[in-house]
Amino acid sequence: MTLERPNIAAMRGYAPGEQPQDAGTIKLNTNENPYPPSPDVAAALREFDSATLRRYPHPLADEFRQVAAKLHGLSIDNVIPTNGGDELLRLILTTFVAEGETVATTKPSYSLYPVLAAIQGAVLSEIDLDDDWSLPNDLIAQLNALGAKAFILVNPHAPTGRLVDANVVADIASRFEGLVVIDEAYIDFVSPELNHDCVPLLARFDNLLILRTLSKGYSLAGLRFGYGLASPSLAAPVLFKTRDSYNTDAISQRLAAAALGSQDYASNTWERVRESRTNLHAELEAMGLDTLPSQSNFLLSKMPEGVSAQAVYLQLKERGILVRYFDQDRLRDKLRISIGSESENQRLMAALREILKT
Ligand SMILES: Cc1ncc(COP(=O)(O)O)c(C=O)c1O
Repeated sequence: MTLERPNIAAMRGYAPGEQPQDAGTIKLNTNENPYPPSPDVAAALREFDSATLRRYPHPLADEFRQVAAKLHGLSIDNVIPTNGGDELLRLILTTFVAEGETVATTKPSYSLYPVLAAIQGAVLSEIDLDDDWSLPNDLIAQLNALGAKAFILVNPHAPTGRLVDANVVADIASRFEGLVVIDEAYIDFVSPELNHDCVPLLARFDNLLILRTLSKGYSLAGLRFGYGLASPSLAAPVLFKTRDSYNTDAISQRLAAAALGSQDYASNTWERVRESRTNLHAELEAMGLDTLPSQSNFLLSKMPEGVSAQAVYLQLKERGILVRYFDQDRLRDKLRISIGSESENQRLMAALREILKT
């Protein structure tokens, strides 16, 4: 006899990417930024007065919300601070999707979505992407026919790095009858020449919620800080009803505000990642590995015909290099490789040449 709710008993938990704690492993498996956080974050940590930990933190992280609101040209009523983007996703389901209602996403997508839907007791509907990984033309018709309560779109897409245009996002928000969640975990790595920006859409659409995280662009995966951007009417129930009373701690609030305040530093790391992305993409292609162009900080690379991607993943692991292998439809012949520092990328390429004997 189990005391778990039936849906919890029936589900499988999220399988995170491996997180070895030794410094020697080359970690290209969970899309962390290869560069350290801003020196302003380090200074804020050094200067943090531990005596203040005696008290509870600000419940709504208002210092952080002010910085985020200013950065995005919004008001603090638009900003929902959370313990990582993952907590925001969980809060979105808790707040907006009732048990038995449908939450839609694309297939494949971030593998946490199905887990959160199962916890909530919601029905998950995964919409197939086209062969070139673009959204199907009849996406909105499909969403409305499903009667979906929410649609979560990761943009740029994971694990391909493909970017959906802001006009398409606007079209979805205007014609889909439910909540549109744009998971912008990797938005910082989009090429600035594209002038991609969905934030202005928040003024037009009350059913749009944008997820941001400090884990990738701001090199702070260990801090656990993310946030949502939405119209005040959408943000309010999360801020004032479903959020834990003190969901972000005093240290992370301070450091997150310092990180967002260091735009020049952070955008310099994004530029370096983009340069390395271009180089690594060219090198993988030159090796004969079909690799999708990516607007994110990872590349999805297809292994040659007859070569098992899983075996290559394991051989890389033996050499101390971790990449991500997904035992999933459309992904079994591919590896997702996070963009590392130039030297890490070179070590990866050398190992791949050895393994694939090219
Ligand atoms: C697509 C996507 N969304 C959201 C997140 C959440 O990140 P975090 O909880 O570290 O902020 C991740 C993390 O890997 C992700 O890949």
